[in-house]
Amino acid sequence: MPGKVISFVNFKGGVGKTTVSVNVAACLASPGFNKRVLLIDLDPQSSASLWILTNREWEKTVNTNAYYQKTAAALFLPRLKTLFYRTPYKDKIKPHLPDFHLLPASFKMIRLEDDIFNDQAKKRLKGHYKPGDEYGYCLKYFPELRKRFDYVIVDCAPNLYKATVNSVVASDYLVIPCIPDDLSTTGLNMLLKRLAEILRRGESQGWLSNRPQLLGVVQTKKRGGVPESNYRLQDMIETLNQHRREGNPVVTDSSQVLTDHWFSETIKHSTAVREDMPVFLSHPNHQASQDVISVTRWIFERTEGGV
Ligand SMILES: Nc1ncnc2c1ncn2[C@@H]1O[C@H](COP(=O)(O)OP(=O)(O)O)[C@@H](O)[C@H]1O
Ligand SMILES: [Mg+2]
Repeated sequence: MPGKVISFVNFKGGVGKTTVSVNVAACLASPGFNKRVLLIDLDPQSSASLWILTNREWEKTVNTNAYYQKTAAALFLPRLKTLFYRTPYKDKIKPHLPDFHLLPASFKMIRLEDDIFNDQAKKRLKGHYKPGDEYGYCLKYFPELRKRFDYVIVDCAPNLYKATVNSVVASDYLVIPCIPDDLSTTGLNMLLKRLAEILRRGESQGWLSNRPQLLGVVQTKKRGGVPESNYRLQDMIETLNQHRREGNPVVTDSSQVLTDHWFSETIKHSTAVREDMPVFLSHPNHQASQDVISVTRWIFERTEGGV
């Protein structure tokens, strides 16, 4: 069975994309699920990479001028050469997660948007440009990754610029991490609208060979016993239903706002970064780990069955 690609997206920053995607990726690679997992860090801020590589390793081997050879930027080369996956936490983590791999990011990837633009400009000059080419890099390369991994998890940057859209249109599924608060729930409506526009354009221009489905909206930083967060949860559900009624192409009958699984707000989710460990390995009995396992199981059940 080909592997599944899941992009974790939200154009808002700080909503927990990295926290959810890194934990879910690592958890899928743990003995409970035992999957071959590639985590792609597509954000030049490099949070996922800095979390699961040692700072020294990242600085010495990833954040170099040769970033096209060493990072997820390789996915945006006109022709894909070898991808240099890394196996994070050589000593600490590898024994627990033998088939967990990272395609890291570096700060240099801040140039990626310009590089995509320039690559397309060259094509236009030569008269080779076709509509949608700027969104077609991952569409071209992800099928190769689906053969090698059971899951490809993409931690996207907080935007919907070209690199993110590349990953979105080439994914099987999308997961939207979202804080149940005012700004984030308003943002959800805009995000769904924009995703619909992109997909409709791809279909009408004939370059979209894939149809990503919204798997779910995962509540993050959820506070217990706060009525406000329940009201915002209702808003999110209503927003999603409205997009379903309007025929938003990413929203399917099974897309949902998860009501029984979420990431609670807890300091353990932030300190895990400093501990260089996914929280479910370092603190298996903590609520944070239960959150990770329950969200991962939900994603696993939905994607293995083929929703
Ligand atoms: N459930 C949570 N509880 C507490 N802090 C969290 C939680 N999720 C994320 N954080 C913290 O919030 C900040 C932003 O999270 P991050 O995952 O980097 O968001 P994004 O990738 O969307 O920008 C980080 O400092 C992270 O450690
Ligand atoms: Mg992030």
